[in-house]
Amino acid sequence: AKDPIRVLVTGAAGQIGYALVPMIARGIMLGADQPVILHMLDIPPAAEALNGVKMELVDAAFPLLKGVVATTDVVEACTGVNVAVMVGGFPRKEGMERKDVMTKNVSIYKSQASALEKHAAANCKVLVVANPANTNALILKEFAPSIPENNITCLTRLDHNRALGQISERLNVQVSDVKNAIIWGNHSSTQYPDVNHATVKTPAGEKPVRELVADDEWLNAEFITTVQQRGAAIIKARKFSSALSAASSACDHIRDWVLGTPEGTWVSMGVYSDGSYNVPSGLIYSFPVTCKNGEWSIVQGLSIDEFSRKKLDLTAQELSEEKALAYSCLS
Ligand code: NAI
Repeated sequence: AKDPIRVLVTGAAGQIGYALVPMIARGIMLGADQPVILHMLDIPPAAEALNGVKMELVDAAFPLLKGVVATTDVVEACTGVNVAVMVGGFPRKEGMERKDVMTKNVSIYKSQASALEKHAAANCKVLVVANPANTNALILKEFAPSIPENNITCLTRLDHNRALGQISERLNVQVSDVKNAIIWGNHSSTQYPDVNHATVKTPAGEKPVRELVADDEWLNAEFITTVQQRGAAIIKARKFSSALSAASSACDHIRDWVLGTPEGTWVSMGVYSDGSYNVPSGLIYSFPVTCKNGEWSIVQGLSIDEFSRKKLDLTAQELSEEKALAYSCLS
């Protein structure tokens, strides 16, 4: 039998946490034959709720779940973890300035970076979900210099999956037949959902989405804004932000990273830019990636037209500004 993998979920008493921990315990993140030990962290005001989640995990009698650590102590939470899913953060409340929210999150991610660096397993893979996801991941990277930079990522897979979902609805095809959309940039409304290289499996072979949709106006406008604004649409409908889809996408992100992407398929991940596609290095930016043997690599050589170039640059610009704001909050 395989040794258990230790998976940390921060903010585990929250909405996404509640949807995510049972998925992990059922093998959706790491495979149906992979035992797991869950580490759940939250803050003291949520300790009782966190304990309730632990009680439910016991009650669900998950065969793959070999242990649960539920704690408000960041060191205990981080010790020995192989995978860290960072969902905990400080939400923007009404009337709060962007800078105030950033200050709170920068300080959370700075201290959690140190705890992971000192106490996590060597080669721990980190996924930041909490917003501002790209910039929280960047701060985590900066303050955990001994963790390889390729091990620190942020979630844009939800946006990627939303793009596949919109294409599938529009064309009335199975979402599993649509692939190779791309989310470029920030997990924010400046992200660029790009279907210029996306394809659909049809009885007549693989066809480009552009050819099948044949409505450039829809693809260049409504499709893009629908994906960009989907988070807000969910909040409007549900009065809470996306949780089950965020949890499911976090599982997709880690599963593909650890177990590999299917041949000929790429996915979107927020990763540390190496300057590919003339995106400034030093940002956590969402790129198309393939994964093999536990390593991601950016898909190279895709053509970028003028329309796309502007959108790639705009979201990079926003990330540079967020980075500057985050640094100004450190001092
Ligand atoms: P939530 O408010 O229900 O849960 C957040 C949890 O984090 C709470 O239990 C809170 O007590 C905890 N927390 C706060 N500070 C903490 C700290 N220092 N250490 C550990 N835990 C801490 O929020 P929800 O809906 O679960 O969302 C979580 C985050 O994910 C938010 O920042 C949200 O904006 C973000 N998000 C990101 C998405 C993405 O695609 N990247 C999609 C959806 C949400």
